[in-house]
Amino acid sequence: MSPPSDSSNPHFETVLQARLSRRGVLLGGLGAAATGAAGATLGSLAAGSATAAPAAAAAAVAALTFKPVAKSRADAVTVAEGYTATVIYGLGDPLSPDVPAFRNDGTDTDYERRAGDYHDGMSYFGLSNDGSRPDPNGSRRGLLAVNHESITEHFLHVNGKTLHPRPASETDKEIAAHGLSIVEVRRDGQGVRCVQNSRYNRRITPDSPALISGPARGHALMKTRYSPTGRNSRGTINNCGVGHTPWGTLLSGEENWSDYFARAEGDNAVRNDKSVTSLVRYDKGQNATGYYAWETTGPQDRYARYDVSQKGSSTDGSDDYRNELNTFGYVVEVDPYNPKAAMRKRTALGRFAHEAAAVGKLVEGRPIAIYMGDDARNEYVYKWVSAAKWTQADADAQDRLAVGDKYLDEGRLYAARFDADGTGRWLELSIANPRIAGYSGYPFADQADVVVNARIAADAVGATKMDRPEWCATHPTTGEAYFTLTNNSERKVEPADASESTVDAANPRSYRDSYAGGKPGSRGNVNGHIIRLAELGGDAAARAFRWDVAIFGAQADADPEAINLSALNADQDFSSPDGLWFSQATGLAWIQTDDGAYTDASNCMMLAAIPGSVGDGDTRTINYNRKNGSTLTVTTPVGRNPTPDRLRRFLVGPVDCEITGCCETPDGRALFVNIQHPGSDITAANVAKPEKYTSHWPGNAGYGPGGALARPRSATIVITKDDGGRIGG
Ligand code: FEO
Ligand code: CA
Ligand code: CA
Repeated sequence: MSPPSDSSNPHFETVLQARLSRRGVLLGGLGAAATGAAGATLGSLAAGSATAAPAAAAAAVAALTFKPVAKSRADAVTVAEGYTATVIYGLGDPLSPDVPAFRNDGTDTDYERRAGDYHDGMSYFGLSNDGSRPDPNGSRRGLLAVNHESITEHFLHVNGKTLHPRPASETDKEIAAHGLSIVEVRRDGQGVRCVQNSRYNRRITPDSPALISGPARGHALMKTRYSPTGRNSRGTINNCGVGHTPWGTLLSGEENWSDYFARAEGDNAVRNDKSVTSLVRYDKGQNATGYYAWETTGPQDRYARYDVSQKGSSTDGSDDYRNELNTFGYVVEVDPYNPKAAMRKRTALGRFAHEAAAVGKLVEGRPIAIYMGDDARNEYVYKWVSAAKWTQADADAQDRLAVGDKYLDEGRLYAARFDADGTGRWLELSIANPRIAGYSGYPFADQADVVVNARIAADAVGATKMDRPEWCATHPTTGEAYFTLTNNSERKVEPADASESTVDAANPRSYRDSYAGGKPGSRGNVNGHIIRLAELGGDAAARAFRWDVAIFGAQADADPEAINLSALNADQDFSSPDGLWFSQATGLAWIQTDDGAYTDASNCMMLAAIPGSVGDGDTRTINYNRKNGSTLTVTTPVGRNPTPDRLRRFLVGPVDCEITGCCETPDGRALFVNIQHPGSDITAANVAKPEKYTSHWPGNAGYGPGGALARPRSATIVITKDDGGRIGG
């Protein structure tokens, strides 16, 4: 069913009155909201009509009332009754009218002008009704900025992929299917759809130009054959989570970039310097091939760059790609409204496996904070605090990336230590910090070296090793920061070696999973949890915080004393939280999963939650038996258990997918979600045997060619409520 037109909604004024506009939050901080004049049209609520009013509570959903969606293994998107999910943007969809329709049979080319693969983090950027200018309150027209994290390479080719050397015809498609999309969406009486002929539509790929900004700009660590000055770099890869700045740009996190590069046997000896320590810390040991072996395609520069071995005779790396890995692993800032603007690599925010970048509570005249996580086992949580003080005038600046320069290039980078008493500290990653300057594990030279090797700096200061920090998000009114810790197979009671970590207060669970499919159960923190923190004094720039575990993922039937610590019921239970996003319109937290442990019972899913606050629960204590007969006791502060009306399952995706990416129109009436890699377990050997596919979505739902035998595709869906109301509210 198509969503209703704006004028058909009888509750429009009620919705408008109650809506918590983004602009209202920016202007008034906690509790301020828009109370637009009656009769204002959707999408035209001007900044000047936002007035301070205690409407945040009125806007926030007080109790979930939709019927929970049951766990499912169907090859379909199942959404709560009364809502409709519509596919609007799938892999290969043309971004220009002159690009041929997608055939989805491996013959398609031109991915530089089509939707990429593995839709991931995503944000919505409003436009004025005539499309001529940015309007953060625009709900009729807007731009979706979509990350394309990765690919299922065999589905990009007719008969799967060719092994080494990879032919250029295949490599070129695979490279171009990575990066980001900017695509215009419109909502009218016909529903919500992508606009093929929008002047804003574009792709950003691993070949697109980027500017290095922040401390590493022009540094010796960044010099490559492509940019001997170290000021530029090429492309962005494995973009996962996102952030949305108050000045209207996208922050895109480069995650598993290290996998794409090769390094030769013997390269350690050739280098014979501290770069070897850095490469190993970032999972690039020698004798490694690139994940897709693009470096085998040929000697041309755009393929050769994927081999980061030291090959040249220069002393500074300006004649090879020995430093290429230092140009990835950043928060990348993109101006979605300006197709001509090159993206910026914000090196000050640190180099690691980035997920989301969540902006903290904004206060006029105070620094801005950005929360981030490093998604690898036993990695860290980070925070950026700008040197510049926030001024609301910057929200409307014409040169948005210049505003980014102001807030994202100078400031302080911290890693988090979570202490057992429920407090925590932000530990500064600065060359002025004696623990970093004097670190025995790596001789830091300067601040550029610190941010490029942020993982090593965080090791040096003793940050807390976490259970794979995926997304983070900040509560729209309290500013409390939430982090999904998706799972950790290397969280143990008694670690075998340095690659594993001991259970602690912030990462307290280690157990063996039950798996009904007959496979042996996984070990460690199998189902993940969500941790949250409240800054001291509510100041996003604070150096100390209080924390608790907001919720533990678990099977409803798991041990309530050691596993199902949040007492989840069958309508709430989930595993491996990953995507996490707060709606400004409803105050709801949306939790998305990327799971392999509970898939015997259900495909990945999305749940709605009404967030509480740090300290609203009590504690849980787990007693572990050590091999020597002693007991290890771990006590953790936890949020209050979610009642059925505060957490319930809203959506279940198709087979083998991950649910990720979440954003909505500012009025809260169209929610965009990404279905990533349905059918990802289909092997290359079965490409020509569609009857053996585990998934045919979304072809089997009528989207694009192929029908019930279609190759599966990653895609964006839009969810609307059949009565035209807010999603989840
Ligand atoms: Fe791209 Fe950590 O998920
Ligand atoms: Ca993720
Ligand atoms: Ca993931």
